[in-house]
Amino acid sequence: MSTPPTLTAYLDELQTVVSRALQQSLPEGAAPTLVIDAMQHALMSGGKRLRPCLTLMAAEAVAPLAGLTVPRARLMAIPSACAVEMIHCYSLVHDDLPAMDNDTLRRGQPTTHMVYGDGLAVLAGDGLLTEAFGVLAASPSPVAPPGSPEAPADRRLRVLSVLATAAGAIGMVGGQAIDLRAAGRIPSHPPAQMGERELRDMHARKTGALIRAAAVSGAMIVGVEDAVVAAVDYYAQELGLAFQIIDDVLDVEGSDATLGKTVGKDAAAGKPTYPALHGVTASRQLAAECVDRAKATLHAAGLEGRLTELADWSLARTT
Ligand code: IPE
Ligand code: IPE
Ligand code: MG
Ligand code: MG
Ligand code: MG
Repeated sequence: MSTPPTLTAYLDELQTVVSRALQQSLPEGAAPTLVIDAMQHALMSGGKRLRPCLTLMAAEAVAPLAGLTVPRARLMAIPSACAVEMIHCYSLVHDDLPAMDNDTLRRGQPTTHMVYGDGLAVLAGDGLLTEAFGVLAASPSPVAPPGSPEAPADRRLRVLSVLATAAGAIGMVGGQAIDLRAAGRIPSHPPAQMGERELRDMHARKTGALIRAAAVSGAMIVGVEDAVVAAVDYYAQELGLAFQIIDDVLDVEGSDATLGKTVGKDAAAGKPTYPALHGVTASRQLAAECVDRAKATLHAAGLEGRLTELADWSLARTT
């Protein structure tokens, strides 16, 4: 028997699959080139592709429970994975705007508004968010490789609803609103005091919600029992919090060159973060506890494997 690929090799393979599919996601030719160029800049200039990889990994992990082969489960989940990454890329474009975090570097490149101006960057973000739902709803999906099995419409609709809730006011938009207020950027609402509970809530919304939805989409689209989806959801909830805690830590300990974004901005902006509240060592410890709970959930659900390795990676990552 051949040895399975390392996690790094497996993630590289999934990233390639996702990036190839994303190349088909935008209505090139039928839309003004300028807006497509700005959307491409946001979508195709690198990134870890963690969320869409998580969608594909969740689909593959539950494939046997859905009576599917692993390759078919992966193919079936590609439109969901692309939709998740398009939503994520939109969120980064808007997050970097001068009206929000005011960042000039993203994925080692100038941010979208630095190249195209604030107005077109707003539109590129709007376009990516909108097209994400189009990619999921279309039959056949423009991102589905030829010959892919298509999930039934009711399952695609459920995934669409999960993604809408995660990206919307309950989830990411709500979390970003809390973040803006905490940074003192809302004239009518001065920053409120934020303790551990408030910080966890902000992180769960701004980052955790989409990471959860990414994993849930993968399990849901291939068609498994609700209890399995719930286990994947709980795993991703813990993974998502660990991921944002480490993002906060890397803003303190990381480097621009490795991360491809400007570090040190959180402290400079007086942002509430895990390191600001607890220090770096205790923050890493809290992230490790999240990962332990994530792995215990997988163990109990019989879903150990690559998802377990991904949880460990989320702690050790430097990018
Ligand atoms: C950055 O996400 C924004 C957060 C929610 C922490 P990633 O660290 O996944 O960014 P990319 O996609 O790899 O660029
Ligand atoms: C970003 O959080 C969250 C969203 C984009 C929704 P951060 O502001 O911490 O992400 P980075 O550090 O700019 O990547
Ligand atoms: Mg931000
Ligand atoms: Mg930011
Ligand atoms: Mg950050």
